[in-house]
Amino acid sequence: MKRVILLGASGSIGQNTLDVILHHLEDFKLVGISVHSHIELIPSILDKFPSIECVAISGKKDVDDNIKETYKDVTFIHDERAIDQMLETLDYDLLVNALSGFAGLKPSLIAIKQNKIIALSNKETLVVGGDIVLKALKNSTAKIYPIDSEHAAMHHLLMRIPKDEVKDIYITCSGGALRDYPLDKLESVTPQMALDHPRWKMGAKITIDSATLLNKAYEVIEAHYLFGFDISQIHVLMHKESIIHALVNLVDHSYVAHLGTSDMRTFIQYAMYEGHSKILYEPKPFQFEDLHFFKKDDERYPMFHIVLKAYKKGGSSIALVNAASEVLDQLFLEGKIKFTDIAKIVKILVDEDEPIINPTYEDLVKVDEETRLKVLRKVGL
Ligand SMILES: NC(=O)c1ccc[n+]([C@@H]2O[C@H](COP(=O)([O-])OP(=O)(O)OC[C@H]3O[C@@H](n4cnc5c(N)ncnc54)[C@H](OP(=O)(O)O)[C@@H]3O)[C@@H](O)[C@H]2O)c1
Repeated sequence: MKRVILLGASGSIGQNTLDVILHHLEDFKLVGISVHSHIELIPSILDKFPSIECVAISGKKDVDDNIKETYKDVTFIHDERAIDQMLETLDYDLLVNALSGFAGLKPSLIAIKQNKIIALSNKETLVVGGDIVLKALKNSTAKIYPIDSEHAAMHHLLMRIPKDEVKDIYITCSGGALRDYPLDKLESVTPQMALDHPRWKMGAKITIDSATLLNKAYEVIEAHYLFGFDISQIHVLMHKESIIHALVNLVDHSYVAHLGTSDMRTFIQYAMYEGHSKILYEPKPFQFEDLHFFKKDDERYPMFHIVLKAYKKGGSSIALVNAASEVLDQLFLEGKIKFTDIAKIVKILVDEDEPIINPTYEDLVKVDEETRLKVLRKVGL
């Protein structure tokens, strides 16, 4: 029985993780959760999981005293550092990190230092903090299992194929909500249109990032840190059905693929069970359908190359991209900038950037904070 802390219980991956745990109570005991702004969800989660001992609230609003009174045996921590405090005080075996954004890096670093098992959904941990994470893992017995579907699928394949038989690897990409939208009308896209992903129901940030393809560039970097391939060996295959999640190209030029439904519970389970497949409760039916593959349209998705350019620039550049995208995505969702402004502004920032080489975690925090302010100044807010 593993004692589990779930960070980001109120989010899309968080809610799916709660469902997975609920159907595997013989193996997992949920002892801690974190919530940022959606504190109204806390009572129903506590009702479903009487095993919870601690709730960390990292956002501005705290729960009412009557809720604390109703759940007397639960420790509520309301603080900017609530998540760190929970990780430092609560006994646990497995961390599910389902936070969105840069906020997810610090808890991952704490869990690595504590030698825990980490089921990692927060891709920013590896994209922004990859070098620091790899260094920390060298002095730790912690293990990271990816939840991201392409990476969980790739893990599945690579666990079963000897490394010297692998030439390079492919992750697939549906193209996001605006894949078929006329190029000359992208400027006028509304948030609702960009949020309407054809295959996956996800949080707002990753859905916008799927429409710009920032998300896919992040996944290339994530795969590099997880599996040790050079960026040039990691390819993106456009595939609109999202049925094939990952492919391995063997040295004999044949391919091995991982196929499955677009159901994040499959991948959450796989990561929580440390790379093992388990029976999925009420699975979505899998249908063999025609599969289509197509070439990535660089004019439609300039962000893909901007992110990889920043990664190649090195140092803190990718932290700058990430902070800028977190602010710009939000401004777009609030109707304050156009969809096409996201990539335009990130490009200007990357071109101007003089990155800090070999940044520490503290350097990344500084770049994150400064970039957020810089972006607001650039858009005149
Ligand atoms: N959704 C998917 O299918 C999917 C697939 C692959 C990878 N991922 C990755 O998984 C991560 C989570 O994605 P998601 O779609 O679940 O996002 P989401 O629905 O937006 O949920 C994000 C979670 O993080 C919390 N949070 C947001 N900002 C925070 C902050 N500054 N400090 C602490 N907590 C904060 C939110 O709390 P409140 O809601 O209470 O504010 C929420 O619980 C992302 O890195 C994403 O790229 C997601």
